[in-house]
Amino acid sequence: MRDRYGDAFTVNVPIFGRAVVVSDPAEVRQMFMTSRDVADNLDRNLGRVLGPGSLFALAGEEHHRQRRLLIPPFHGRRLAAYEKIVEEETVRELASWPQGRAFPTLPSMMRITLNIILRAVFGSEGAELAALRELLPRAIKLGSRLAVLPIPKVDLGWWSPWGRFWAMRREYDAIVARLISKAQRDTSLDERDDILALMLQSRYDDGSAMSRAEIADQLLTLLAAGHETTATTLAWAVERLRRHPTVLRALVEEADSGGSALREATILEVQRTRPVIDLVGRQVKADSLQVGRWTLPKGYAVLVSIALIHDNESLFPNARTFDPHRFLGARPDLYQWIPFGGGTRRCLGAAFANMEMHVVLRTMLREVTLVPTDEPGERWHSRGVANAPAKGGRAIVRRRTADTLPSVAARAAGPATPGRTTDASTIS
Ligand code: HEM
Repeated sequence: MRDRYGDAFTVNVPIFGRAVVVSDPAEVRQMFMTSRDVADNLDRNLGRVLGPGSLFALAGEEHHRQRRLLIPPFHGRRLAAYEKIVEEETVRELASWPQGRAFPTLPSMMRITLNIILRAVFGSEGAELAALRELLPRAIKLGSRLAVLPIPKVDLGWWSPWGRFWAMRREYDAIVARLISKAQRDTSLDERDDILALMLQSRYDDGSAMSRAEIADQLLTLLAAGHETTATTLAWAVERLRRHPTVLRALVEEADSGGSALREATILEVQRTRPVIDLVGRQVKADSLQVGRWTLPKGYAVLVSIALIHDNESLFPNARTFDPHRFLGARPDLYQWIPFGGGTRRCLGAAFANMEMHVVLRTMLREVTLVPTDEPGERWHSRGVANAPAKGGRAIVRRRTADTLPSVAARAAGPATPGRTTDASTIS
């Protein structure tokens, strides 16, 4: 469509109706800076599956009020507290990886990120967490597909996909109600740093607390939004790195010597070249909205195309080339590099996801050798909301032995300064 019509065009999308897709940097910037009264979330959004109290469902002042309450757990020092959980969960999962034969890494990444978010949200282990670990993958898989389907007027029970989803939702609500009751009885709640404990203690400006229904919807939102997106990005990282052995080698050396600059740049480049969410949507709420060259009437959907802006040659020369060095020592422009969306609705968990991806990759590079491949890149596969590598980010790994592990002296020597080592012949 871009090749035919340029960087903006109109499409008819079954659930959103007529929608304008934009990808010009100035227009994208404008959409992200536009005030909530002029353009806000799409009327049909993920709140359809996550519940009316979900951040995705809320708009205007109510969205602002809830978001302010949810920000603290995702900030600075709090994030450092979750790093240990991420490393533990990664080491545990890596121990189950087979050696010397190909397997998809996506299911592993899904287990890692689900366990991390469950522990970050609820704190300690127990029967309820085990039940959620079993229930959530099924519910999120079905919910992601239903997100773009009409909602039936009657509940046909297990005969219909929506009926099955609602039954799972009732199961989720019952488990979360038990967890909330337990937390409310906990006399050391104020010493806990899990997200549920923080939510229970937080207060709106008028001094009131979040209701149980609000907490249940917000927790489901965090569990759903924070799990599959991070896992699919990590599976793409494996897929890309196996096809770029020079980058891979440099990353291993850097991880062994305690550095992180190239790894940071690599995560940015994986997200640029393989954004797991294609686009973010807004709806015109004012009588009209002037976007660049067009005046859009009230109600029109505007889809900001993440995939197209990341593929823009004038912003990212050789845009189809995977080259982490383009981000080495350079911070991305947050209106051009937009895997987390932007503006007042930018992903709440972006810093959390970034920390997670860092620690998972660092741990993986230290524990196993990823065997490079010259197979063609994996194709995109839509899982409903997120786009994953079609073969699940297949890998062949070998456990690192004493002679491939860094010596204690090398680790202690501190961060390396990786050079520009990309071998253009290995880049596709
Ligand atoms: C690589 C991983 C992730 C990607 C690519 C991603 C991407 C996105 C995108 C594109 C949006 C929509 C932003 C917009 O409309 O402008 C979003 C929203 C959101 N994400 Fe993420 N996300 C990731 C990880 C996470 C994690 C780990 C969490 C929570 C722990 C999370 C929680 C949320 C929430 C709550 C919203 C709704 C924000 C709002 O409406 O105010 N995400 N994410």
